[in-house]
Amino acid sequence: MIKIESCSIDNLDSIMDMQNSVFESNKKTGKENWFIVTGKELLEEGLKNNELLILGAFCKDELTAFIAMSFGDSRNMFKELLNNGDKEFVYVKIIIVKEGYRGQGLQRTLLQALENEVLKNPQLKYMGAITHPDNIYSLRNFKAEGYEIKGKVIPDPKPGYPRVLLFKTLHNHN
Ligand SMILES: CC(C)(COP(=O)(O)OP(=O)(O)OC[C@H]1O[C@@H](n2cnc3c(N)ncnc32)[C@H](O)[C@@H]1OP(=O)(O)O)[C@@H](O)C(=O)NCCC(=O)NCCS
Repeated sequence: MIKIESCSIDNLDSIMDMQNSVFESNKKTGKENWFIVTGKELLEEGLKNNELLILGAFCKDELTAFIAMSFGDSRNMFKELLNNGDKEFVYVKIIIVKEGYRGQGLQRTLLQALENEVLKNPQLKYMGAITHPDNIYSLRNFKAEGYEIKGKVIPDPKPGYPRVLLFKTLHNHN
């Protein structure tokens, strides 16, 4: 049975292992520009300052998948889609399902759990994410959760790392 719970600093080693394993397996399959590892210090700081929320899918004590969300968009990628600045917006920074647990819809489960958390704060209206344009599984899951593709990130967030913008207006704000 999978349980969704908030992650803390204690989970960051598992989170780093999962990120590194995605990075390594992408490297082996010619997808080195699909995923950028977010450093442990940045995640730790975000959790300490309440600027980051990480939800994990736990099977017994094992972290099988996680989603990390930050408030606002520090890099201004979503600027043109936001009427009123960053305060109404949350950004899906990382989402990973461990290899042995893929194919059971855990990305969608985590997106739904995150949205339920976000809806508790009526100030928040928009959710966004970015993904590599060829990441068909991720794109399919975001679309199925109501995110729309709003073009490309221009310029690439990092040179040679193309990304599409995914954006959702929460239903209570339509
Ligand atoms: C993208 C990702 C989060 C989707 O995970 P997920 O929720 O398990 O995805 P789904 O349940 O939609 O399954 C996707 C596909 O995984 C495949 N799959 C099934 N079992 C699998 C397994 N044991 N191992 C690998 N892939 C498997 C299936 O082909 C399935 O496609 P199908 O529905 O056509 O059969 C996951 O692939 C991942 O962590 N990727 C690396 C990190 C990443 O790209 N994150 C997104 C960046 S925005």
